[in-house]
Amino acid sequence: MVAVAVLAAGKGTRMKSTLPKVLHTLGGRSLVERVLESCKGLNPSRQLVIVGYQAEQVKNQFRHNPNVEFVEQTEQKGTGHAIQQLLPHLEDFTGDLLVLNGDAPLLRPETLENLLAVHQSQQNMATLLTAQLPNPKGYGRVFCDSNNLVKQIVEDRDCNDAQKQNHRINGGIYCFNWPKLAEILPKLQANNDQQEYYLTDVVDFFDRVMAVDVEDYLEISGINDRKQLANANEVLQSRIKDRWMMAGVTLINPDSITIDDTVSIAPDVVIEPHSHLRGNSVIGKGSRIGPGSLIENSEIGDNVSVLYSVINNSKVASDCRIGPYAHLRGEAQIETGCRIGNFVEVKKTTIGTKSNVAHLSYLGDAILGDRVNVGAGTITANYDGVNKHTTVIGNGTKTGANSVLVAPVSLGENVTVAAGSVVTNNVPGDALVIARQRQRIIEDWKTKTEDWKNKE
Ligand code: UD1
Ligand code: CA
Repeated sequence: MVAVAVLAAGKGTRMKSTLPKVLHTLGGRSLVERVLESCKGLNPSRQLVIVGYQAEQVKNQFRHNPNVEFVEQTEQKGTGHAIQQLLPHLEDFTGDLLVLNGDAPLLRPETLENLLAVHQSQQNMATLLTAQLPNPKGYGRVFCDSNNLVKQIVEDRDCNDAQKQNHRINGGIYCFNWPKLAEILPKLQANNDQQEYYLTDVVDFFDRVMAVDVEDYLEISGINDRKQLANANEVLQSRIKDRWMMAGVTLINPDSITIDDTVSIAPDVVIEPHSHLRGNSVIGKGSRIGPGSLIENSEIGDNVSVLYSVINNSKVASDCRIGPYAHLRGEAQIETGCRIGNFVEVKKTTIGTKSNVAHLSYLGDAILGDRVNVGAGTITANYDGVNKHTTVIGNGTKTGANSVLVAPVSLGENVTVAAGSVVTNNVPGDALVIARQRQRIIEDWKTKTEDWKNKE
């Protein structure tokens, strides 16, 4: 049985932020969420997050996950002190405790599975992840015998010059035999440079602590400032993009593309430069995204093209062409084979199959049937200053250029709206509606006005 504890009580001073460090995001999810996610494969029986600085905000992050328990560390007196707070919560727990730093979001699930496997098969009291770092500054140094059994961990600031030459560092990720750890925790003392209770000091009390090196040290790199956040983002992005390219997705100029790891992409999708896929977006096979598009929490069908456009919380069915410069602002549902063209904004609107909204339109709170042709510059006037109202447009209806449909209003099937109309009343099917002043021509206007001028 495994319980997981995440250290997330610190402020993260070096982030220079009002937001607690562990709530900064990477690829669309907070650091602490990512850390918990990385140990999902171990099926932990308990998940405890140790909170302190802005505890309410951190807790709020997990409001939809009732399996997460919170342990308050009201004063931050060190990593050992943080783990001491678990004692009353894990009184009856007899399994292993996995401790993770809330600021190390790049851990791979495989790495944790391996750590736990070594810990259990070797019957260690504690097992910790270590790495050989080219630049170990700032990290605790781990001293081992030839069997990887840990003799001592010394914090960077407590190291003498000789100890600083050791490049094997403590990643801050540990597996403990919890009942044994529980016996030792009360014995920790704060006799070090920072006057803190160091979790690493438990090594002095255990007879079998083993170090396991990670292959790729980037995995355990912690985030302490915005530069490290940006570096971690690069690592994460290249992992995500490699995965999609291996799965049959073409990325053109991958460095200019970002993809959240919550996105799903079918084979034979082409993503062109400067495109960004975020949240729970799904892209169907053969679609072409970009250049220059942003897709957030949206479903895109097969063989869709999205050119220089922004799509938020919307659904686009197969064989549609979106853009250039279209904005599906939220709750837009575009059925198969539609064309949404330049400078068209769509909000809370359903558009039936094979309909076209090709140029310069705003459609809000509308329901369009199939094969509708929305003329250039057609606008739904959906807001009367107080309430939003619905526009309904039947199958096969065509609106003329620059028409305004003043909601609530409903046009039947196969209606023709004359250009420049302001439609305020419902129109029955098959009708032509002209709602504008009839054109007047005043002949010889020029000569008349000149006569008036001469009289002056
Ligand atoms: C710690 C390790 C160090 C290791 C490094 C890896 C100790 C004494 N040192 O150092 O050997 O190389 O991590 O990144 O453990 N936290 C709390 N409560 C506290 C103090 C810290 O929850 O009272 C949390 C922080 O929010 C953070 C984590 O514990 O998520 C690590 O704390 P931090 O102060 O960053 O430890 P380091 O000095 O980096
Ligand atoms: Ca740290």
